[in-house]
Amino acid sequence: MELTKEIGKALLFWYDHNARILPWRADKNPYRIWVSEIMLQQTRVEAVKPYFDRFMEELPKIKDLAQVEEQKLMKLWEGLGYYNRARNLKAAAQTIMEKYNGELPADYEQLLELKGIGIYTAGAIASIAYDIPVPAVDGNVLRVMARLLGDDSDILKEKTKKDMAARVMEMMPDERAGDFNQALIELGAIVCVPNGEPKCCDCPWDTVCTAYKKDLIGQLPVKKPKKKRKIEKRTVFVIESDGMVALHKRDENGLLAGLWEFPNVLGKCSQELVEEQLDSWGMKDCAYEFTHEGKHIFSHIEWQMTGVLVSLDEPVASDGLMWVEKKELEEEYAIPSAFEMFRESLQSAY
Ligand code: ADE
Repeated sequence: MELTKEIGKALLFWYDHNARILPWRADKNPYRIWVSEIMLQQTRVEAVKPYFDRFMEELPKIKDLAQVEEQKLMKLWEGLGYYNRARNLKAAAQTIMEKYNGELPADYEQLLELKGIGIYTAGAIASIAYDIPVPAVDGNVLRVMARLLGDDSDILKEKTKKDMAARVMEMMPDERAGDFNQALIELGAIVCVPNGEPKCCDCPWDTVCTAYKKDLIGQLPVKKPKKKRKIEKRTVFVIESDGMVALHKRDENGLLAGLWEFPNVLGKCSQELVEEQLDSWGMKDCAYEFTHEGKHIFSHIEWQMTGVLVSLDEPVASDGLMWVEKKELEEEYAIPSAFEMFRESLQSAY
């Protein structure tokens, strides 16, 4: 369907009469808009409000955020969850102090470079604070757009987000980019709602909305559930002797290609299987202990790992294993973070 600036203006008109009064909308202070957008990721508007007010009272300027003590920052964030959002805010505030003289840059690309600011947030800050005409497509906007267009593309796909952002731009009025983006978000939050019946009779787009006309509201947007991760159990051997440790180089193809790892085998080994495995490496009757269990999540697979610490009197040459000095391990060998937790056993075995 064709999208026009007239359609965009109708939404803006609706926003002017229906926007909620929210603390971060009182002015166009870029710092306040930034903090609100970060808090609003994964947290509802009503839940954010008291946190936002307290945060601004305690840290009214970017300079205050850049200097805040970790413990105080965590306290201000306590209950909001996803604490890295707060740590990234502080890191970005420090960059802003050093590089931009304490002012959030009025530039989409520069905003995108700051820690914790992705495509959506850069778009939101650039448009809301500085009226730069860029899209800000969050989950609300994707739902509104899918219904408006009658588009059944999977909104969890990056390609759909990109396509929808381009379509948003077709409607964006020449002025007030920020209000327009917020109007789209607001429509999604209070009219074109995700759960329960949307309030189509209150919608400024009831005459143009494809889903409304074709009675597809219930079917849109389409969100294809992500494939369930495959679970793989593995037993990881930390084999050390005399300041050295045995490593294995992963295959040049596939997961973690070509990286070094602690030797490991598929499955959660029983004592008997551990001994069989050690035997196959020529490490008969050696001392070992089960250490800890841990998991690591990749995009398509989850490893559930059991650690075995093996201490040998002297290194044994085995097929596929290479002995390296522990010191070198830190400096020279790239070991994927999936194995990070097993380094601990190594340290205690020093
Ligand atoms: N969700 C994300 N950004 C928002 C904003 N500026 N206003 C209301 N809800 C939002």
